Amino acid sequence: MSRNELPNDLLDLDSDEFRRRGRDVMEWITNYLESTRDYPVLSRSQPGDLSEALPPSGPETPVAWEELLRDLDEKIIPAMTHWNHPRFFAYFANTGSAAGILGAALATALNSNGMLWRTSPAATELETRVTRWLAEWLGLGDMPFGIINDTASTSSLVALAAAREAVPAYDRQQGMRSVGVLRIYASEQAHSSVDKAAAILGMGLDAVRRIDTRADFSLDPAALQKAIDEDRAAGVTPVCIVATTGTTSTTSIDPVAEIAEIAQRESVWLHVDAAYGGAAAIVPRLRERFRGWETADSVVVNPHKWLFTPMCCSVLYSNRPAMLQEAFSLVPEYLRSDVGDDRGGLDAPVDYMNYGVQLGRPFRALTLWMVLSSYGRQVMSTLVDNHVCWVEELAALIDADPDFERLAPTPLSTVCFRYHPGVGPTEDGSSLSEVDGDPWADLNEQLMGAVNAEGTTFLSHTRLRGRLSLRLAVGNLRTTREDLHTAWEQVRGAAVRVS
Ligand SMILES: Cc1ncc(COP(=O)(O)O)c(C=O)c1O
Repeated sequence: MSRNELPNDLLDLDSDEFRRRGRDVMEWITNYLESTRDYPVLSRSQPGDLSEALPPSGPETPVAWEELLRDLDEKIIPAMTHWNHPRFFAYFANTGSAAGILGAALATALNSNGMLWRTSPAATELETRVTRWLAEWLGLGDMPFGIINDTASTSSLVALAAAREAVPAYDRQQGMRSVGVLRIYASEQAHSSVDKAAAILGMGLDAVRRIDTRADFSLDPAALQKAIDEDRAAGVTPVCIVATTGTTSTTSIDPVAEIAEIAQRESVWLHVDAAYGGAAAIVPRLRERFRGWETADSVVVNPHKWLFTPMCCSVLYSNRPAMLQEAFSLVPEYLRSDVGDDRGGLDAPVDYMNYGVQLGRPFRALTLWMVLSSYGRQVMSTLVDNHVCWVEELAALIDADPDFERLAPTPLSTVCFRYHPGVGPTEDGSSLSEVDGDPWADLNEQLMGAVNAEGTTFLSHTRLRGRLSLRLAVGNLRTTREDLHTAWEQVRGAAVRVS
């Protein structure tokens, strides 16, 4: 069939059909959001189930709409793990809030590409404006620059590339040949995206020096200083310190103000990974925990983790956008424009393609704008604060039960604990006892498996100083205080069953 022979309704849906299908989709989404809690939170699908249910080759001719919806319900949904489920307590939760879903739909319809200011002035200026709003809500209002990336892994990669660019000897033309051995410092609790960035940037995994943490799993500034001194004596060049405010396992918060002093004294870039925890700075009573992060060279916060914005929305802030630009700006002739920072410097409208990995850029700012505008700062702050308060309550319940033990402090909305029947309170009364070996690992794995098999709550685990720890993280908009109490009863019930 030639292009001219195609009937019009095969080119794209006509308006009536689009409306009909759109109503079906909106109805589907509304029903889904009303009943997410009725789905098994962790998919019961076995590897290969969905692949086998789908035809091995794509269809030669259009598939009927009703059949597509049926396949969605019968084949795809059973293979979903439901991140929107209110008792998704594994990893760090996220939320497809109604506002975010609508914003993302509009962004998809507009389908703009904000690589340059002129290719989408709205996308560019909205990105500048909403990242600024969020910066002010988080106490980062003096940071002059914000950019939306897909994930924190990308934001940290961009930050580390800028940090390398800031090394005086580094020459982008020659790349790593222009410098000797470079070093990045991060706590032993820092996220693996730091190592990945070091590998991608050609510094090598060995470039990341893991720094010991204190009893509360926060980076030890004295150990950091010692590591830098040793490296300098050995001719190694420090490039970047990564401080984490809300580490992945325990949500420990590194002492950013102290670390910032070291970074400044040593003239080393400071990057703050606040991918998850940064959201808590929207709560005035919690803001103090982040003290010093506003002075960092770069900070990453993911609205798609704990600020009710759908995937993928990670904001990278920087006090030194010129270094990002030096690391990433590369403008072929066909992309030259007479407006934008390629010509005008930093005061001109931003051409975001010059500050990161991507050239083509979706309209993520529209989704973030819709979410921030629909909630407003006060409501968002209350929602985040609720999560922290409820987890504080849960931590108290765990501490009061002699058969359970918390394995880390609980500064934000994540609690790490384990079951250790018959051990009772520790001699010094602390709940952070050191026990040789890990005699409770199998029992706790079985407990976690038993809870997750029920299908109504999803917990994950981590390992802390050699001990297997259960981990319950709250961050979903639809989670209620009762959900946490139910989950705790489920844990206690499963503990009895596996003992
Ligand atoms: C502290 C921290 N940093 C970075 C990341 C990576 O996030 P992303 O999935 O957005 O790359 C995570 C993921 O959970 C994290 O907890």
